[in-house]
Amino acid sequence: MSVQWFPGHMHATQKALRERLKTTDVVIELLDARLPGSSANPLLAQLIGDRPTLKVLNKEDLADPARTAQWLAYYNAQPRTRAIALHAHTPGPARTLVAECRRLAPNRGGMVKPLRVLIAGIPNVGKSTLINTLLGKRAAKAADEPGVTRQEQRVVLADDVYLYDTPGLLWPKIIVPESGDRLAASGAVGRNAFDEEAVALALLRALQADYPALLEARYRLGLAPAAIAALPDHELLAAIGRKRGALLPGGRIDPHKAGEAVLADFRAGAIGRITLETPQTFAAWLEAARAAEAQSQAQRQARRAPRRPTGPEAAQRHPDAGTNP
Ligand code: G4P
Repeated sequence: MSVQWFPGHMHATQKALRERLKTTDVVIELLDARLPGSSANPLLAQLIGDRPTLKVLNKEDLADPARTAQWLAYYNAQPRTRAIALHAHTPGPARTLVAECRRLAPNRGGMVKPLRVLIAGIPNVGKSTLINTLLGKRAAKAADEPGVTRQEQRVVLADDVYLYDTPGLLWPKIIVPESGDRLAASGAVGRNAFDEEAVALALLRALQADYPALLEARYRLGLAPAAIAALPDHELLAAIGRKRGALLPGGRIDPHKAGEAVLADFRAGAIGRITLETPQTFAAWLEAARAAEAQSQAQRQARRAPRRPTGPEAAQRHPDAGTNP
């Protein structure tokens, strides 16, 4: 599915982030624990360069603990990188964050060289919730829709540790199709930028493959996990729609409404603790997407290049053609 999500104000956000990075010692990259690879911003990775990074897998309460462990091990094996999982509503994350940041920048600290930390993450990943938790406030919704800018703010994590918040940063194009679907399913993408039914079908296919028993437990379809896994996705959506009363006048199933119900359930964690990708599956999607991107770029270039005549056409046009031995 193609997702259009790069509003104009993102250019200003990018500029502000670039400025702030000049005086940043550690970057906290907030990721969605249900889709760590897909919720990582490639543009941010470019901007961060090789600065020490703390990957925070937020919403761990909604994610599959076994897969969270895989992602943490994967990130912790990378240079200048630490990773932790977090539930942003739970009080008390400041101590862990400070300890991890100090570990990543041991030469900073004290009043002369305070540790300057930047926190970044895509919209809806839970940044305002985490900051409100750090500030000890009741979580206040910063914006109704993902992608709405906010001013930079500074949070004092410890006497010599400052956290700078930046507005959520998107990237121009999601090249991994699987990521587009997962980001939309997670709630990271504005409602008008995708088709609920298509995204719900993609989500169901992922759940059929990895979590069929959770689908049965939630929707009570009376089917064994293997039977759920084998159902065509639209039939599964229809069966769920029937159960959830997603009906059109006349009693036909409303697939759009059924899709909305599935997405709402997933976002609220009502289907269970789910992670939609592993480091291995994400790496495979990324590789395939890069290959497809390179191929379409080569095709575009070939179309733009002037066509060289060949065969008899070439002989006709070029008097010299065919005369050389
Ligand atoms: P943002 O600043 O990064 O854009 O995200 P924000 O904090 O506004 O969080 C987006 C949604 O994710 C909010 O839900 C928030 O409650 C939820 N959330 C944030 N962190 C966690 C977490 O660790 N676990 C779970 N389960 N949810 C989390 P909402 O329904 O949009 O708003 P609200 O009614 O909860 O305030």
